[in-house]
Amino acid sequence: MAKTVKLVIDGIEAEVPRGLKVIEAAASVGIVIPRFCYHPALGSVGACRVCAVKFVEGPVKGIEMSCMQDARDGMVVSTTDEEAVDFRKHIIEWLMMNHPLDCPVCDEGGHCLLQDLTVAGGHGIRRYPGKKRTYRDQYLGSFVQQEMNRCIQCFRCRRFYQEFTGYRDFGTLQIADRTYFGRFQDGSLESPFAGNLVDICPTGVLTDKPSRYKGRRWDFQRAPSLCLHCSLGCLTVASARYREMVRLEARFSNAVNGYFICDRGRYGFYYANLPDRPTRIRIDGQEMDWAPGLRDAAEKITSLLKRHGPDSLVCLSSMRSSLEDQAMLKILSRHMGWKDPCYFEDLATQEKVQKAVAGLDGRIAVSMREIEKADFILAIGADPVQEAPMLALAMRQAFRNGASVALLDPRPVFLPFPFAHVPVAPQDAEGCLSALVRRAADRLSASNLGEKAVRFLERLPTDYPVDDSRRDLLARIEEKLRQSQRPVLVCGLDVVLATTPERVADHARLLAAQKEKAGLFYLLPGPNAFGAALFSSAGALEETLEGIERGTIKGLMVVENDPFARFPDRRRLEEALDRLELLMVMDYLPSPTVQRAHILIPTSTLFEKQASFINQEGRLQMAEPTHGGGASIEQIGRGDHPPRVYGTGTPGGDPLPAWKVLAELAAALGKKIFPGAALEEVWARMGEEHPLFTLEQLQRLDHEGTRLLPDTRERDFSPQGGRPVREKNSQEELDLFFADWTFGTEELSGYSPFIQQVEEAPRLLMASRDGARLGLKDKDPAILHLDGGPLEVGLQLSEETVGGAVQGTIERMQYREISRGRLPSQIGITPAVQRDAFLGIICRSAQAGDIERKASAVELHHETIL
Ligand code: SF4
Ligand code: FES
Repeated sequence: MAKTVKLVIDGIEAEVPRGLKVIEAAASVGIVIPRFCYHPALGSVGACRVCAVKFVEGPVKGIEMSCMQDARDGMVVSTTDEEAVDFRKHIIEWLMMNHPLDCPVCDEGGHCLLQDLTVAGGHGIRRYPGKKRTYRDQYLGSFVQQEMNRCIQCFRCRRFYQEFTGYRDFGTLQIADRTYFGRFQDGSLESPFAGNLVDICPTGVLTDKPSRYKGRRWDFQRAPSLCLHCSLGCLTVASARYREMVRLEARFSNAVNGYFICDRGRYGFYYANLPDRPTRIRIDGQEMDWAPGLRDAAEKITSLLKRHGPDSLVCLSSMRSSLEDQAMLKILSRHMGWKDPCYFEDLATQEKVQKAVAGLDGRIAVSMREIEKADFILAIGADPVQEAPMLALAMRQAFRNGASVALLDPRPVFLPFPFAHVPVAPQDAEGCLSALVRRAADRLSASNLGEKAVRFLERLPTDYPVDDSRRDLLARIEEKLRQSQRPVLVCGLDVVLATTPERVADHARLLAAQKEKAGLFYLLPGPNAFGAALFSSAGALEETLEGIERGTIKGLMVVENDPFARFPDRRRLEEALDRLELLMVMDYLPSPTVQRAHILIPTSTLFEKQASFINQEGRLQMAEPTHGGGASIEQIGRGDHPPRVYGTGTPGGDPLPAWKVLAELAAALGKKIFPGAALEEVWARMGEEHPLFTLEQLQRLDHEGTRLLPDTRERDFSPQGGRPVREKNSQEELDLFFADWTFGTEELSGYSPFIQQVEEAPRLLMASRDGARLGLKDKDPAILHLDGGPLEVGLQLSEETVGGAVQGTIERMQYREISRGRLPSQIGITPAVQRDAFLGIICRSAQAGDIERKASAVELHHETIL
């Protein structure tokens, strides 16, 4: 049977893949048939009847719903037939009978599908004089506002929420003309993808709560942007009004995020609107105008270098900076004869990211959309919902398509679909993976990769390093892996050993030798960690601190980084920064590092500049500026007309993209690096810093971006494959490591007041059997004695937590409150101790590279608080 069918739609011949619906076939030749209930990601249900067309000739005749009919050979379809147009017109009129017609006060007005089709259908006069159906609205949390009277019962929300995302707390209630879409009772929506309801609802029932009454779509400056709240690089559309960022929506991407984004991405952008965001140059506590400020900054640098030499200054870039900013810092350092910049805070993260980037090649790297097509997914040290939520959504689609999903992870991971979880310690995850692959892969396929591959395979252990209770489960996972044709290995970097990323790449290549469609997918610790790994040729900040402690490094230039957000040892960091003669910081966040800066130069946020990033699969992507920068009218007018002050320039408009600040600083230091100070000049030089970049590629980048990885890469198997099973912890010892949360632990979104509203209280997770051994019960308050002092947290015992470990989850919000001297009232200990205690966990000390470190300083006490 032919793979395509031919039909005629409105006189246009269309040849489309078999199985496509007529509504999609029409779209493929540029004809958009009206629709409410149909959505490409959700499919058809035939609920709204507004896609009616006339089938004139062929296997189907008469008025039918175009979303319910498969395109078939010989069909002749008319969307403009009088009968079809009249049918659709009546449908609109019936739908509008119960609609409140409140467009003037509805937030959807201006981008409402119902409004558009009502006008397009010519329904301008209301004939129905009766009473309308009304509902009581529900409180659905901080993100989504409900106005049920506007509902047209298309069922998109329920289908998205339950079928697509897999959450059940929102759905269809009541029946017939009383059908209600909501929750059983008022309460926050549980799905971290709930914000997509705003995009998916074709009318104004579910709208964006934080941006309510902020303006109409046509009032906004809108631009294609990117999400920076994890490494997946979901595409977004950003909206600003009066220099204030007001809304973020999903932007369709065929390769990355499809039609959706997660709520961290949607509501995490408010860091760009903070009233205490740095906007002026500040030197030794004094605000200065731009030109004299930059001159002063250059003088201070020159004086430092004169006194101590070029090696006394080190630059620190970050995993959240754009490629241009990362590259420019390296170019500047080179021109000035300084050391190459650091891009990572700690060596272990640097090593893991560099290994992951080196382990990917174009043949085995898979995108998120490709994950949806996998038939078996094995995640090692990855908690998708908490670390990179859209990955969980992609895994759910794979599950809906028949895939089996298994996780090797010490945390009690939740996914919105059935999956197998083997709670293993980080040091045992590699052993489990190796045994699974050893048993499922065959020697013959490995031999295609050469002798080293065979030796690697043969050295892998065959025994699982787990207790007997998990062996059956691992045997079932092994069977699924053996049967699969398109397996994907997902590897997180947070709770794995430094060797794991490389080891996972080796295993993925072994699988790919046997199963052509096998793939590899990493989660990286920042939106541009990939770029940081490409540019990084020096050590991490950790080594710089040693230099500061030895007295050889006297100055630190930090570009868009707040080491306090990630560095394992806060006290050491504080002491080191205090010893510096010059701490120069360029950033847009009012971070703890910014507060300590001797010289502060404000930089633009993503929404005020063109900037490129590379996501975790190696995809080069570009964001456009949404607005030109400056303090918002809301802030300078405090809700009223802003004061009329004569002057040139935009109030608060000093910040520039970091690469431009660096170029101007170079000029002030006597090195004119880029005469035109144009972005293209930086792009042209990026190729010199790394051969993966070319100017042409950056100039021609389309909205999907382009994957930078070459298709084949010769790479040896890591020599020490198949680690022996590590000795278990003694009963008295507990490993401590920090676990990420969807809301609250990611740096940028932690500044968003709306994200702060959904952060949960810190808690300590522990295996039930460890709890029993220590005489602890679930929900017991417990005090954790850390190096820096005691920390009180709620205890959560779980069968799904690996034994011999405790995992802390701490909110970033509390951390900031504490650093400002305000203590959460429920914890009655002194601020200094409290701050250190929190940082003891926030710093991720035990997971950043020292995962095997015994928490000898962590002594768990059980105290009953009355
Ligand atoms: Fe942003 Fe990651 Fe969420 Fe995508 S999954 S929207 S990149 S936080
Ligand atoms: Fe076809 Fe709703 S779009 S019935």
